[in-house]
Amino acid sequence: MTHKPIWNTFFSIRFFKKVFYFLLLHTSRQFFIPPKIRPFFLKLCGIKFKDAKNVFIGTDVLFDIIENTTISIGQNVLITSGVKMICHYPIFTKNGVSEYDVGNITIEDNVFIGMNSLIVKPISIGKNAVVAAGSVVTKNVQANTIVAGNPAKVVSRLNFED
Ligand SMILES: CC(C)(COP(=O)(O)OP(=O)(O)OC[C@H]1O[C@@H](n2cnc3c(N)ncnc32)[C@H](O)[C@@H]1OP(=O)(O)O)[C@@H](O)C(=O)NCCC(=O)NCCS
Repeated sequence: MTHKPIWNTFFSIRFFKKVFYFLLLHTSRQFFIPPKIRPFFLKLCGIKFKDAKNVFIGTDVLFDIIENTTISIGQNVLITSGVKMICHYPIFTKNGVSEYDVGNITIEDNVFIGMNSLIVKPISIGKNAVVAAGSVVTKNVQANTIVAGNPAKVVSRLNFED
């Protein structure tokens, strides 16, 4: 078996792509990137938008996209500052947390996600739903509901006709 020199890993196209996406993802979180432009940065990193022109993303929003995961965002969505969306989660074994699994996050149309909320699992947030500020979302959120708290629970329902 032949061993490839370590610099082959560092100077591969895959490595440069990873560094580029990492920089882009982290630059897009900064205050000097206007919210109108931010979705286009994120699109380049692999986040899926139905209509990037109609999405607001505040500062310091973390999209934890790692290999084999997708975050999809519908139209007319507001993701306010400090929201974190985490696509990977630990698997607990008798040897401790030695592995993790991944999954996708889906945000449907007209969703509002309040400041500093955490989406800690691969889940989906239904159409017209509101996530109150500071919520910790651990389960799918039904369409037309307002969820709040840690863990986020339904606090009220919105009456919208489809
Ligand atoms: C969700 C929100 C819009 C309030 O919605 P609402 O329908 O008016 O809800 P209410 O204020 O009537 O509250 C309903 C219940 O949810 C609770 N609740 C509301 N917001 C909450 C929150 N962020 N965390 C925990 N519980 C919350 C209320 O205490 C109330 O509980 P109760 O029925 O036991 O009294 C508001 O709380 C919120 O989070 N706003 C987002 C602010 C924000 O992020 N702004 C960013 C601007 S860029």
